[in-house]
Amino acid sequence: MTVLIKNGHVVDPLTGKDGKYDVLVEGDRIKRVAEHITEDAQDILDAEGCYVLPGFIDLHVHFRDPGLEYKETLETGGRAAVKGGVTTVCAMPNTRPVIDTAKKVEEVHERQKTESLTNVIQLGSVTVGQYGKELADIKGMAEKGCRAISEDGKSVMDASLYRKGMKLAKECGIAVFAHCEDITMVEGGVMNADENAERLGLSGITNSVEDVIAARDILLAKETGVSLHLCHCSTAGSVKLVKLAKEAGLSVTAEVCPHHFILTSDDILSDDGNYKMNPPLRSKEDVEMLRQGLKDGIIDVIATDHAPHSEEEKNKSMKEAAFGIVGVETSAALTYTALVKTGILSMMDMAGKMSSNPAKILGLKDKGSISEGKIADIVIFDSKKEYRIDKSTFVSKGKNTPFDGFPVTGEVAYTMVAGKIVYPF
Ligand code: DOR
Ligand code: ZN
Ligand code: ZN
Repeated sequence: MTVLIKNGHVVDPLTGKDGKYDVLVEGDRIKRVAEHITEDAQDILDAEGCYVLPGFIDLHVHFRDPGLEYKETLETGGRAAVKGGVTTVCAMPNTRPVIDTAKKVEEVHERQKTESLTNVIQLGSVTVGQYGKELADIKGMAEKGCRAISEDGKSVMDASLYRKGMKLAKECGIAVFAHCEDITMVEGGVMNADENAERLGLSGITNSVEDVIAARDILLAKETGVSLHLCHCSTAGSVKLVKLAKEAGLSVTAEVCPHHFILTSDDILSDDGNYKMNPPLRSKEDVEMLRQGLKDGIIDVIATDHAPHSEEEKNKSMKEAAFGIVGVETSAALTYTALVKTGILSMMDMAGKMSSNPAKILGLKDKGSISEGKIADIVIFDSKKEYRIDKSTFVSKGKNTPFDGFPVTGEVAYTMVAGKIVYPF
């Protein structure tokens, strides 16, 4: 099968190509990128007026499969992902059961081949059952292609145990993805600790809940030499710490999520569970710093923390609602609208943070680039389309978003995974 993508604006962080090129795909690979390709192809896609970008790689999703299929499955999550231009995801291991053995990683990797339209890389937990007591089979999971371990949903509070886990991850050549939250300091908080929490009569989560663990984990990464990736950074402090770590030459990377660089706790007008996520929406000063960090290259990655929950679990007071919001279907449009249209990032930066940098962190040498010989994971993005996000159109089982009705610019027109057009469905 050959596909020719014609007249699109190719943006490729690896080769630096940023202009009008045709892209010829043969089988599952990119065969040629050139100004005018005249070769015959079985399928021709006209990308006139659109960007042609390497498929997005979302380092942080919750597909809830196995065990929590009422929230999401490999199938529904995979469909949602490709609708958002996401061609590879890292699925967090806080499923039921928790993914903590080689066999469980292997099972998901086998199943995703037939059940998911997007590529699913299963991450393994750091500790057995995420109980924080003993290390999971890190070596066995790494051998089955789990490219990072993560205790996401919580932090490993026992620093000595975490250090042992980091040493093992380093030996296996895989990364550690850190959710930074000192659980002893949360004290029942459900949103940012500020005047908005007071206004709503809700208890708050201070910035230091995140910052103390971010600092600790960077120190542990320094000692062990492991590649540490900080998940969903939400505070100015996290950005400053990552900057220091990078200046010290450590292998530390960081991600932010669209909700954290767009919304603040001022946007929480009423006690609405759809504004509840962990970490919470922070202050204007934090958002400014996250944006600056993205611009300066301190923040390497934009990921979603796509966290689907049922209506029942979310449509209630923030006191009782589950933490988390969905994101894979809206991240490209939100990023384009808030960061590219405003001139904070270039389209090249966006492609870097949503594709080539994540590929680098995962060690995926044949992804994250529109260039010859790479796997043909490609997204065609129409940056002129203006509309409002409408959660009733989501294909994810989760409709839990604070962005319903939010005006955006930019829509995924086509998604290709390994040379096959998987979206539109
Ligand atoms: O908001 C969140 N939801 N944060 C997390 O760390 C976990 C996630 C989930 O699993 O729902
Ligand atoms: Zn998390
Ligand atoms: Zn998460």
